[in-house]
Amino acid sequence: MTEPKAWFHDAVFFELNIRAYRDSDGDGNGDFRGAITKLDHIKSLGVDCIWVQPMYPSPLRDDGYDIADYTGIHPDFGTLDDFKAFLDAAHARGLRVVIDVVMNHCSIDHPWFQAARADRNSPYRDYFVWSDTPDKYSESRIIFLDVEPSNWTYDEVAGQYFWHRFYSSQPDLNYDCPAVHDEMLRVLRFWLDLGIDGFRADAVPYLYEREGTNCENLPETHVFLKKVRRLLDEEYPGRVLIAEANQWPEDLLPYFGDGDEFHVCFHFPIMPRLYMALKRGDKMPIIDILSRTPPIPPGTQWMTFLRNHDELTLEMVTPEERQWMWEQYAPEPRMRLNLGIRRRLMPLLDNDRRRWLALNALFLSLPGTPILYYGDEIGMGDDIWLPDRHGCRTPMQWSADKNAGFSAAERTYLPVIDEPPYDYRTLNVAVQENDPDSILALTRFLLATRQAQPALRSGALEWVETDDAAVLAFQRTTEDGPPVLCLFNLSDSPRPGITPLTDVRDLLAREGRVYPAGQPIPLASFSAHWLVA
Ligand code: BGC
Repeated sequence: MTEPKAWFHDAVFFELNIRAYRDSDGDGNGDFRGAITKLDHIKSLGVDCIWVQPMYPSPLRDDGYDIADYTGIHPDFGTLDDFKAFLDAAHARGLRVVIDVVMNHCSIDHPWFQAARADRNSPYRDYFVWSDTPDKYSESRIIFLDVEPSNWTYDEVAGQYFWHRFYSSQPDLNYDCPAVHDEMLRVLRFWLDLGIDGFRADAVPYLYEREGTNCENLPETHVFLKKVRRLLDEEYPGRVLIAEANQWPEDLLPYFGDGDEFHVCFHFPIMPRLYMALKRGDKMPIIDILSRTPPIPPGTQWMTFLRNHDELTLEMVTPEERQWMWEQYAPEPRMRLNLGIRRRLMPLLDNDRRRWLALNALFLSLPGTPILYYGDEIGMGDDIWLPDRHGCRTPMQWSADKNAGFSAAERTYLPVIDEPPYDYRTLNVAVQENDPDSILALTRFLLATRQAQPALRSGALEWVETDDAAVLAFQRTTEDGPPVLCLFNLSDSPRPGITPLTDVRDLLAREGRVYPAGQPIPLASFSAHWLVA
């Protein structure tokens, strides 16, 4: 069972794409040796834990979420020794490290699949889900619907169809096969023995298939996931298990079990509603989704984010809301991808610092463990013309030097962003280090200010009534520190805010502003305030 309060409750996470951060050997790909040299930068942001995206050997058809060897390191990113050096260097700085683990599927290049397809009698045949026809499990939705016509693909060598919930280069593993359980537990132990602090478990709703269901969130899936949790509790206490399950809050509840399954679940549905509220100047989407979020077992936690390495997913909204979000945030067709939007945070906000600050402060005021996505700490841009979701995965912009100081190579794995206003020559860490008003400085300020307030880190949330749809107010309270009143103007025009009963100090006003009791707080357009008595 989960401790009442464990380290991840108060932590801020940082999502790191090793390939994108820093190339130490000039081959055009970021690597662990390069990332080690940037750990001081990551630490300086005020984060506590790094989530390392897939770093396994892989043909990279899904950027590493297609694993060809579960216990190795992709040669472009370094060696296992480099990984260990990275882990040690992170730990030495007080940073924890969790890694992605993809249990649902592997790559068609994985030796298991190669053996399975080549020989019906191979012991590996049963590691995958086969059928003579593409008709089974027809109630299961297709996730990558812009590119995959079916969840079944015929394999000439195997002479049968194999099942895949994602790309056809990613065959699903068969969890009805006990050997798959053993393999996966062995994989988890391998990394835990190296000293990692936990896993972000990718795509967990889809482990089992059953006829007559949508093949998501099945009871059998939870039985296996509880087995994973028991392994952590019994053999590796203190490590964290995080679920990536893009589902409604009520459907996520079973992933916490009775505190005996995941410690943490991503809260997907809140994310699009933050953008929705900001664009509409209306707080209701936020209030609605938090009201729809059930209480979770003691010791468990939500995880929140504004952006990540994928498209901004619009799966957890109504079709009308999705259409509206596309019109508002993805006016050009190329900005749309699958059921989402392939843009980074700053371009989504039209490079408007007021919106950036309001949205980030709001996000950091909500209950849950926040995650920052690499590059967003300086407000990086994107390239919507790159394929798939690659436009949000371009090299980190360190300086105005060649390849943004990311790599000495002639050609980098993806081109650096070189067009205004997100051009690496003007938008980079080096420039922002020298600017006290930079996005980098503001990111550090916001995180430090949040982390200094126990109420913001883990306090209870109480709504505060306002009679203005654009003015969102709530209080975070805890026994461990003063209550913090969080106040936002989500509209593009100034508003009178609520009237405090005592003098209140605004933690977000860097000049240390105090608002006197009895007078409405004047709210500038798109503004955020963290007020303490
Ligand atoms: C990851 C995606 C990936 C998919 C399939 C996800 O949920 O975040 O990037 O494409 O799993 O592995």
